[in-house]
Amino acid sequence: MMIKNMSKGFHSITGTFLLQPHGKAIARAADIIRRGGLVAFPTETVYGLGAAATDAAAVRRIFQVKGRPADNPLIVHVSAKEQLYVVAASLPEGAAELVDRFWPGPLSLVLPRSSAIPDEVSAGLPTVAVRMPSHPVALRLIARAGVPIAAPSANRSGRPSPTMASHVLADLAGRIDAVIDGGPCPVGVESTVLDLTGAVPLILRPGAITAEAIAKCLGRAVEIAGKYSGKPPSPGMKYRHYSPRAPLLLITGPPARREKLIAALKRHYQRRNLKVGLLMPDQSVDPAVAARRLYRALRAFDQQGADLILAQEIPAVGLGAAVMNRLAKAATRIIKA
Ligand code: TXA
Ligand code: MG
Repeated sequence: MMIKNMSKGFHSITGTFLLQPHGKAIARAADIIRRGGLVAFPTETVYGLGAAATDAAAVRRIFQVKGRPADNPLIVHVSAKEQLYVVAASLPEGAAELVDRFWPGPLSLVLPRSSAIPDEVSAGLPTVAVRMPSHPVALRLIARAGVPIAAPSANRSGRPSPTMASHVLADLAGRIDAVIDGGPCPVGVESTVLDLTGAVPLILRPGAITAEAIAKCLGRAVEIAGKYSGKPPSPGMKYRHYSPRAPLLLITGPPARREKLIAALKRHYQRRNLKVGLLMPDQSVDPAVAARRLYRALRAFDQQGADLILAQEIPAVGLGAAVMNRLAKAATRIIKA
């Protein structure tokens, strides 16, 4: 559904309205959501593509416009802790403590799904992922809509997640009703996804809330998925993700050898007249800064027409673990120096 006839003062780009993050425009966006439309909005992590989580038809359209595989479930966003009881059927041990400690913020909890949330949101799973974002625009939008909002990252499936409204428009202009421009996202990588429905708390996707912080809050050990081979525990984990158009080579290993190999590869490809993009050559950079810049950098290489991207490992501490997780998924090849 494309909602036309918006009142004046709202810009439309190929049928997608670019809204300012102010009261009137947010009320407009909330109205679009209530009427079954799709609105992209800023969160502290990345931009989300939102639909009313209780509207199965609207949720199906999210999958269509993103080109998202039907078996990859969405995260439901709430604007108040109490709304958790609309989304989840019950709270496993530790859930209440984690919510108290980390919400609003970049922690998604996988919980038993309530009957208010249609199958489409969870790709048929009996569970649902839910989080309360800390971005004021996201909170106001959800509160105004009066309904939980199901939202994956607002990119075409497989592309780097959007951390600016321009990224959303580059992928989805003309396919969605509106995007609220809230400026760049402060965290820059997606939320930590923690599954609380098994015997042991399991991190399905690393993010700004680290395994150490979760373990400390719960007073027990947590496991991190993907360390062992076998069936992917989260449907989203089996797809190639976050990828720029140019092939990306991720160079790991001891720092000195890594840098030597990168320099050699760079010379090798430049001699063949290929445009080589270098990602994060500076090892002293704060991992939080690396995270904030990651997706913007990947998209910039595409814009500059890079033929090849060489990326270097950073220490997997704090947000470094999330950055390395995304780089490994974006990589065409991982080469140990
Ligand atoms: O920071 C974020 O989480 C952003 C913003 C918009 O909130 N959203 C986001 O959504 O990254 P998306 O759809 O790009 O990633 C959702 C991840 C996928 O890996 C999916 O497989 C997993 O969460 N997920 C969702 N529901 C799940 C469930 N019931 N069980 C297991 N994994 C689930
Ligand atoms: Mg995504």
